[in-house]
Amino acid sequence: MNIWITGASSGIGAELANQYAQAGHTVFVSARNATTLKAMAASSQSVSGDIIALPLDVTDNDSVLSAFEQMEQHTNALDLVILNAGYYEPVEFDELTLEHFEKTYDVNLMGVVRCLLPSLKYFSENQAGHIAIVSSVSGYRGLPKAAAYGSSKAALINMAESLKPECNANSIKLSLINPGFVKSKLTDQNEFEMPAIMETADAAKRIVDGLASNAFELSFPKRFTYWLKLLRILPYRLYFLVTAKLVK
Ligand SMILES: NC(=O)c1ccc[n+]([C@@H]2O[C@H](COP(=O)([O-])OP(=O)(O)OC[C@H]3O[C@@H](n4cnc5c(N)ncnc54)[C@H](OP(=O)(O)O)[C@@H]3O)[C@@H](O)[C@H]2O)c1
Repeated sequence: MNIWITGASSGIGAELANQYAQAGHTVFVSARNATTLKAMAASSQSVSGDIIALPLDVTDNDSVLSAFEQMEQHTNALDLVILNAGYYEPVEFDELTLEHFEKTYDVNLMGVVRCLLPSLKYFSENQAGHIAIVSSVSGYRGLPKAAAYGSSKAALINMAESLKPECNANSIKLSLINPGFVKSKLTDQNEFEMPAIMETADAAKRIVDGLASNAFELSFPKRFTYWLKLLRILPYRLYFLVTAKLVK
């Protein structure tokens, strides 16, 4: 397969790229850090697949479109796009700013949209292809200290649900990935205990296996995500009793 992964310079995205390349696939890796992407490409010479560095900034539409064009010049058969680039900054209630919301939405929501639109056009012209959107279980329902991050991920869940029937009608497979806590630079910032936190390689393996299945949503680890799914159906009175305990 030919696979495009955004947010591939570290964490889940980098691990996905390595696992797919080891399995013999060609992976276009995108993020801002060109040096890291080029090092990944160089190290892929020892595996059966290939990694090709495609630096971009998902907050800059020209940069996304130019990267997409370069990818089209390399291959006429893109199979899978994993929209994984994300931004998270823990911010206390009294430190919330307009810039914090703008930056979070620009990367997590509009960044996905900027990469999604050329992918949808490409795949609908071919009437084939697979797009996976990386959201988060924090998008299921509002959680304290995640007003910007959680709402950006909630928007991705809603967007994927909205697009799914039309993607199906155009023979495009659409998947939604909602991880629980996974070790990465992103979660290294958290000072609280993260229940059922997973190793990055395990999370990437779940994604690789899950994307090969017919499931729309991949959420893991189940021992954590089942509880969050349960919280989703609680009436507000009970839900806020639970989430109040997360505020010091
Ligand atoms: N770790 C978790 O517990 C967890 C849980 C649920 C969901 N997720 C989601 O999983 C995805 C990957 O996160 P991670 O945990 O692997 O964190 P990470 O290691 O911080 O990876 C984030 C990736 O996004 C890229 N990125 C950030 N801003 C970008 C921009 N403007 N343009 C292009 N790329 C950009 C970063 O690369 P550059 O800095 O080089 O640009 C990096 O490759 C995110 O969408 C995150 O929200 C993570």
